[in-house]
Amino acid sequence: MEKFEAKKRIKKLRSEIARLRSAYHIENTPSVTDDVYDSLTRELKDLIEKYPEFRDENASENRVAGKPLDKFVKVEHQTRMLSLNDAFSYEELYDWEKRIKKLLSQNASFDYFCEVKFDGLAVSLIYQDGKFVRGATRGDGFVGEDITENLKTINSIPLLLEKPYPKHLEVRGEALVSKKTLEKLNVQNTKEGKQLFANTRNVAAGSLRQLDPQLAKDRHLDFVAYDIVVANPAKNSLALKNHSKKHESLRLLGFKVEKLEAKCENLEEAIAFIQKFEKIRPDFPYGTDGIVIAVDDLKLQNILGVVGKAPRYAVAFKYPAEKATTVVKEILVNVGRTGVLTPLAIFEPTLVAGSTVSKATLHNMDQIERLDLRIGDTVVIEKAGDVIPKVVEVLTRMRTGKEKKFKMPTHCPTCGGKVEKREIGEKAENGFRAGLAGVRGPGEPRTRENHSPLSSPSSVAYYCSNSKCSAKDERYLEHFVSVFEIYELGPKILSRFKDEGLITDAADIFTLNKEDIAPLERFGEKSAENIIEEIKNKKNIPLSRFLWALGILHVGEETARDLAAHFGTLDKLMSAINHDQGEVDNIENIGPAVLKSVSDFFGNKNNLNFIKKLEKNGVVIEKSEKKKKGKLSGQNFVLTGTLVTMSREIAKEKILALGGKVVGSVSKNTSYVVAGEDPGSKLKNAEKLGVKILSEKEFLGFIE
Ligand code: IVH
Repeated sequence: MEKFEAKKRIKKLRSEIARLRSAYHIENTPSVTDDVYDSLTRELKDLIEKYPEFRDENASENRVAGKPLDKFVKVEHQTRMLSLNDAFSYEELYDWEKRIKKLLSQNASFDYFCEVKFDGLAVSLIYQDGKFVRGATRGDGFVGEDITENLKTINSIPLLLEKPYPKHLEVRGEALVSKKTLEKLNVQNTKEGKQLFANTRNVAAGSLRQLDPQLAKDRHLDFVAYDIVVANPAKNSLALKNHSKKHESLRLLGFKVEKLEAKCENLEEAIAFIQKFEKIRPDFPYGTDGIVIAVDDLKLQNILGVVGKAPRYAVAFKYPAEKATTVVKEILVNVGRTGVLTPLAIFEPTLVAGSTVSKATLHNMDQIERLDLRIGDTVVIEKAGDVIPKVVEVLTRMRTGKEKKFKMPTHCPTCGGKVEKREIGEKAENGFRAGLAGVRGPGEPRTRENHSPLSSPSSVAYYCSNSKCSAKDERYLEHFVSVFEIYELGPKILSRFKDEGLITDAADIFTLNKEDIAPLERFGEKSAENIIEEIKNKKNIPLSRFLWALGILHVGEETARDLAAHFGTLDKLMSAINHDQGEVDNIENIGPAVLKSVSDFFGNKNNLNFIKKLEKNGVVIEKSEKKKKGKLSGQNFVLTGTLVTMSREIAKEKILALGGKVVGSVSKNTSYVVAGEDPGSKLKNAEKLGVKILSEKEFLGFIE
């Protein structure tokens, strides 16, 4: 901002802040939330710091810190590291309770356990014979990075456990820094002219994911333990029966465990805990983003199990999104994989809910009109679920008259093709993606923001009518390299390579060599070498990720994993799709919509040629381990009557997980009939046919 502009802006800010202050303190009619007020005050402070001639005051600016990319040894977690589903309101908590109560037997009564959700880095610690032997990051939940040496610098991680300890122990917890440490580091960084850390999580992650343990030590990291991994609640050596007991054990073993926690008899008590913590949260020494509420009883946890990446037995309550104000510098237009044009607001970077936000999707023209948003406007932004920033309001009083209305371009910003306006009915909503600019950069974590969220339904959408539009290809390329984890190839480099004619599709990436890249301006030997080295290292890919990388409609990370687990190899998948209808109909978690899309994909010659080309260029698709044969494989179950300890749905899940099948009616081929209370005619049929009958208790013994 030019000095004369800053002067004007400061004036506007001062008058608006004064007006808000008076509305709040004198008239007692606050028109915006504290966050909005604070945000404007912060901007004013920042401007004054930049232009001290307009007054003298200390202000702190906030910029994000860069994230180093280091290479650590990968380690497989013995038990998957899960994430948690979020609840953004009390209502969502009650919905969650309703769902789990329905899954457990009716009228089930159980306790909840509430604890603080820390904003740091999740780590797993392994102890063998009481000694700390390995520490790892979460990674993708299955495979993390070995950061043992760095973790050893954290004083609150015991290197030796207090006795008595089990022979083998896995502890999960959060590595973090205090808000004070963050502040100190940022003061230091300011002095040294370095970038500032945006939040405590960034400090923890940045310090642990780099190779020099001394640096981790200098950062004064801390560790809070919150979980002990228990593979079998019936047999664990610490005799743990519930989650609260785990916390007690962790303390006895020598870990630091947050003392703010609560065992609650019902959700009302849990909500009281949420409210209690909300009051002290601003003064709490560590960054937090909510409260974890879990079913306390480990047996019930086990029954409820896991769906996708998150357990059903626990939920993370998130405090309401924070708001902040900023200025819309421009509105860009992105072209997504399907050709849809999506407006994207670019902001003056600003801090919201702990991280710096510089852009937000505006979804569509309707949204812009609804908000009456203009380029140059001061807006209130909010992070829905602390992840996706969105514009919620325009502060029209901050207008200077220079704001400009936005118009959708008549021609595609990427290829110049004609833009078409289409009405969207509800049918088109399915799989209609707002191809956001938010593609992941190297080393950036996957967030909902950069993960192309579904567009909100709108009455009209604007499309690039050119079927060969390169933006669509580019979005696909970005998806492809991100799944292959070729981090060296960010969006800018990819589009440069395309422009230079080095690649025409994703398969060409694998035939690049150093000599192609080094002569390009701004590249040189070293960076060319790094790129080639990384591509070479990423040629082998497990089938599950390969399927994900193909970008098949409806086949995301989880579905790709299910398909891979079922078929094991690509050949088997393709031949099943082409010939064997029977097998294809019976894949766990795979419904007809996915099947249709998969079979359409593999029925298309271009796609098959693309796969052939990838293989020819050196991509090796690693066999996925087929689902291990469970102890119930080959056995058919029929369920009848009401079960007391779990719903039939859960019982079915358990049988499937152990490799068995559940069928609807009794025949000679039925292995067992499980009879609950008030069994129906199926029991009689079983008796007639001489099929083995299990009581609920016997069944529980079976699936133990
Ligand atoms: S999970 C049965 N507890 O949340 C419930 N997670 O774990 C077990 N996180 O990214 C407790 N603080 O890093 C739990 N007190 C806490 C946590 C916590 C932070 C994070 C963790 C991970 C995600 C899911």
